[in-house]
Amino acid sequence: MEFGTKTVHSGQKPDPSTGAIMPPIFMTSTFIQESPGETKGYDYTRADNPNFTILEVLLASLEKAKYATIFSSGLGALTSMVSTLSAGDQVLAIDGLYGGTYRLFTQVFNRFGVHFKTVHPSNHQLLLDELNKNPKWLFFETPTNPLLEVFDIRALATLAKKSDIRVIVDNTFATPFCQNPLELGADVVLHSTTKYLGGHSDVIGGAVMTNDVKFNESLRFARKAIGTNPSPFDAWLTNRGVKTLALRMARHQENAQQIADFLHAHPHVKRVYYPGLKSHPQYELAKKQMKGFSGIVSVEFAFPLDVTKKLISSFQFFSLAESLGGVESLVCHPASMTHASIPSLEREKMGITDGLVRLSVGIEDFSDLKKDLETALKRV
Ligand SMILES: Cc1ncc(COP(=O)(O)O)c(C=O)c1O
Repeated sequence: MEFGTKTVHSGQKPDPSTGAIMPPIFMTSTFIQESPGETKGYDYTRADNPNFTILEVLLASLEKAKYATIFSSGLGALTSMVSTLSAGDQVLAIDGLYGGTYRLFTQVFNRFGVHFKTVHPSNHQLLLDELNKNPKWLFFETPTNPLLEVFDIRALATLAKKSDIRVIVDNTFATPFCQNPLELGADVVLHSTTKYLGGHSDVIGGAVMTNDVKFNESLRFARKAIGTNPSPFDAWLTNRGVKTLALRMARHQENAQQIADFLHAHPHVKRVYYPGLKSHPQYELAKKQMKGFSGIVSVEFAFPLDVTKKLISSFQFFSLAESLGGVESLVCHPASMTHASIPSLEREKMGITDGLVRLSVGIEDFSDLKKDLETALKRV
């Protein structure tokens, strides 16, 4: 099955009792047992629910994984994964993580003895030294948030595998439409399904895909033991959203490429970050590793901070809000919004300057989006 067909059909069956083509929402906390311990596969929704199964089969198929487990949010998924570690374990991450991920490790799990360190692969020796310390995980995003830096999944996975380190890729930005990390050697894929997979900014969710049956079982245990399950309605909404993923992603990235080209040529723009620009430092790698460049464009305007802030508060169609991946265009100021939880020195070191702006390019008509940017830029 091709990708677009999978988004519509994988895991989807008409309801056997009524013929309803869309799955019902199983809004139930518990399930009747025939006799003690004898269930029809479900006993309590914190552990599992038919709406979870439907979405999990769909998401596993899109990431070309054997298994998927869904959670209450992207961070709920990550929390469940971290719960499989023990005090004293180390997590090595590559610079450029979502601010909330960084906060989870440095302000929560550090207190439970999980050591967390970040490196940049450009410092190859440091990366090797850290891998030699036998961390349990090598964890990274590609493209990164918000600098859209692209890392070589195959090369990093090959390095990590030599020491039996679990390679985990947060594929939220790329989505399985643009990139399948498991095919490139990763062991685990993490998603905030809140973003492109849900696609309509109306539901929070997370998912983990893997081919490792034992790891998947430990995630299902974690969901039940910690209570990081989604609601059946949220699983249903996400399942509905995924059906149009291929169409939405094609439009997101077509618009994003045009916005990136437009901004790149604009006199009031200092720098544009988009993996689909030939000037992007990892353009060739992105072309090789990804099937498309997705819909996020970051930009530094050649204005002082107060003018930049005024500019991004004055768009008609780019709404000033956190999050990304919905059908509507959004603009965000990472330093004071999504990445505010990272200390400013650390942020500057990572390249997230106070002037950086991130656009989540929606599926509106490009001409309207361009006009919106042009008008606002003229005004300031
Ligand atoms: C790349 C990435 N990973 C994980 C998360 C966390 O997901 P959630 O907000 O669903 O908990 C986000 C949220 O913005 C994100 O951008």
